[in-house]
Amino acid sequence: METKKILLTGDRPTGNLHIGHYLGSLHKRVEMQNSGKYQPYILIADAQALTDNADNPEKIRANIIEVCIDYLSVGIDPTKSTIGIQSYIYPLTELSFYYMNLVTLARLQRNPTVKAEMKQKNYGANVPVGFLTYPISQAADITAFNAEVVPVGDDQLPVIEQTCEIVNSFNRIYGETLTMPKAVLEENTTRHRLIGIDGNAKMSKSLGNTINLKDEPDVIKQKVMSMYTDPNHIHIEDPGQVEGNVVFTYLDAFSNDEQIASLTEYKTLNEMKEHYKKGGLGDVKIKKVLNEVLQQLLAPFREKRRTYENDKGQVMQILKSGSDKMLQVAQSTLDNVRTKMGINYFNDQNFTNKYLN
Ligand code: TRP
Repeated sequence: METKKILLTGDRPTGNLHIGHYLGSLHKRVEMQNSGKYQPYILIADAQALTDNADNPEKIRANIIEVCIDYLSVGIDPTKSTIGIQSYIYPLTELSFYYMNLVTLARLQRNPTVKAEMKQKNYGANVPVGFLTYPISQAADITAFNAEVVPVGDDQLPVIEQTCEIVNSFNRIYGETLTMPKAVLEENTTRHRLIGIDGNAKMSKSLGNTINLKDEPDVIKQKVMSMYTDPNHIHIEDPGQVEGNVVFTYLDAFSNDEQIASLTEYKTLNEMKEHYKKGGLGDVKIKKVLNEVLQQLLAPFREKRRTYENDKGQVMQILKSGSDKMLQVAQSTLDNVRTKMGINYFNDQNFTNKYLN
């Protein structure tokens, strides 16, 4: 039997997951999980979420179960994937502490992802040290499980690069120990970043422009109906613009021609776009189509979610057994790291024998 590749990825539990997460990463995770080629670990990165939410632990705490239910609702299967809570897996903290010696302050400050996030949060020099160093703790997340494959969004590439540098340094100094990971990106680049329902470049909870996986049908409909289209498309007869039009961007992302043919008089999405561009196709109509598409996407997730919401004890059990399993793996990596570093003193006969009579 072919051995399965170890896959690790994670999310900060700062809020419910939305259709941008689904498009950019969750659907791919489920696909990889179901391919049978991987052994997936999924980390709910609460410790990382706390690096910029130290004053709001309640938010993180409340979202652990929410994010876990989001995973389960889209098809993450706990018999195939292991889901764990980062802070419970305490060897990660100790690994981070040793990795810190292998990274310079200048290197952390150069990390484009961290730089962008710091700018967005207006931190300047008042950045929490924990936040600045989160790429180091993420290296611990990845190496603790010997992950070979790390599916992430393209914004995380510099963070994975930092992990690779740490792996290189560690193995060079202490001998071959850590596994070199590889980031894998969604190959379809239109899936990389979904714009918000307000047309903002990014769908994000903090911008309040998301459609959440758990949204109820009336909420989805109301969000779709309020969407930004083409400001110059005032009368139905006016020619409309498709580029930058949120409704068409989402139709591109979430529908296929077969579905368009079943919902409309058009055979393809392209045909529908041509009509819009020419004029004569109204915004209400295209929004109704998108509403249907999103309802069809999200209904099965919501249904699955209900079974877990009615049995949160089961979700807790999934989290506990996943976390326990991940704790064991991380502990064994830490033992190995300590041995390689020569600091596993009392398990090291070469050390203890010298001092025993
Ligand atoms: N930094 C990731 C994010 O913000 C979350 C994360 C934490 C992660 N640990 C990880 C991703 C390990 C991949 C691997 O989305």
